[in-house]
Amino acid sequence: MSDVFNVQDGTEKSVLSVALVGPHDQRRRAVAAAVSGRTGVAVEEFYSYEGADTLDDRFEVIVVDADSDPDRALALAQSICSRGRATVMAYSGQADVKVAIRFMRIGVREFFTLPLEGPEIADALARASVRQPSARQASHAPSKVCVFLGTKGGCGVTALAANFAVALAQESERPTLLMDFGLPLGDAAINLGMITEFSIANALKDAARLDGNFLKTLLATHASGLSVLAAPSDFRLDQSPNGDAVNKLLTVARQNFEFIVADVGSRLDLLNSTFFDESSIVYLITQVGISELRNANRMISQFFGRRSENLQIVLNRYKPATLLFDDKHIEKALTRPAQWKIPDDYSSARRTQNTANAMALADAPIAQAIRQMARSACGLPTDKEEKKKLFGFFR
Ligand SMILES: Nc1ncnc2c1ncn2[C@@H]1O[C@H](COP(=O)(O)OP(=O)(O)O)[C@@H](O)[C@H]1O
Ligand SMILES: [Mg+2]
Repeated sequence: MSDVFNVQDGTEKSVLSVALVGPHDQRRRAVAAAVSGRTGVAVEEFYSYEGADTLDDRFEVIVVDADSDPDRALALAQSICSRGRATVMAYSGQADVKVAIRFMRIGVREFFTLPLEGPEIADALARASVRQPSARQASHAPSKVCVFLGTKGGCGVTALAANFAVALAQESERPTLLMDFGLPLGDAAINLGMITEFSIANALKDAARLDGNFLKTLLATHASGLSVLAAPSDFRLDQSPNGDAVNKLLTVARQNFEFIVADVGSRLDLLNSTFFDESSIVYLITQVGISELRNANRMISQFFGRRSENLQIVLNRYKPATLLFDDKHIEKALTRPAQWKIPDDYSSARRTQNTANAMALADAPIAQAIRQMARSACGLPTDKEEKKKLFGFFR
């Protein structure tokens, strides 16, 4: 980046590298003056937000000016926080608690109001140097987020998301989390035969203090090893969650899990959240019916037209013999072919609900189909690909 000048260059290994990002010279220099000159701290100043979202490649602490362009500053802080590689702080010339809360909710660790008090920033940097951002510990690869969205209630989002998550935990053998956004009264945990004490509502209500340890206390563990953050079990809770809190929850989840599966039901109010970032795979669950296909068509063209591989269309309860529409009609309605067809399997769906066993654990056609989806999501070959390879070998 060209718009950088060096204030103090630290060369020792134990130096804490700090980037100050702020177009407003006077405010940025005030923070630089408070930080520079301290032993063990190397500061660089950047006078543009442009390109600053890759600074976590080089810096352990990134301090952002919240005032110059508040929306851009928030988006920048959020994108760095979501990777969890650097500690993010922010500063402002105004003592506005609401702005501070917005930044803290997305994972910003410290919020300073100018003028800075003497030891304030030194204390914050000391805390940052003790704290090891979890992604820097590199205990897992960058997380993959799989969002299950339905074209209509009752399409099978919960049944598929819950069983997919179990299969994914088993196939990948990596830390996997299922989150149920079916607020209120989602039933992903019930589908897996689990009774849970806490829910997603506890995480969202207390987002400012949400971190890996707090999140862990809210989770239940399925026999497969899958962690589950259940939906709340009563109607009293806020039905439209705060966007910043939702994003913070995903940031913390990413730091602790390699695979994150979200059952969002048919909630389009989460479309602007980071769950729907370009990097997430959206599984759009639909059925072969007039209104379901019409909704699917609208949702694809309005929201997901630009996605290619990371929009996966799933035809649930697929019955080739009794189709009202042939595959050509379905493809036309969906604007593209469906990647997955899950058979109508009433008896195993019933059986698993009665016995509260995950369908993914049963040896039923529906379970086999879901397992293929999970294998593909974690980069393992599906049966079809294995057969193709085998066929090629014998040829
Ligand atoms: N492929 C399928 N075959 C048979 N029954 C299914 C299938 N998928 C889902 N179901 C059943 O349909 C009902 C509604 O599914 P659910 O997952 O709760 O829908 P949603 O979460 O979209 O509202 C449940 O009883 C579920 O067991
Ligand atoms: Mg549901």
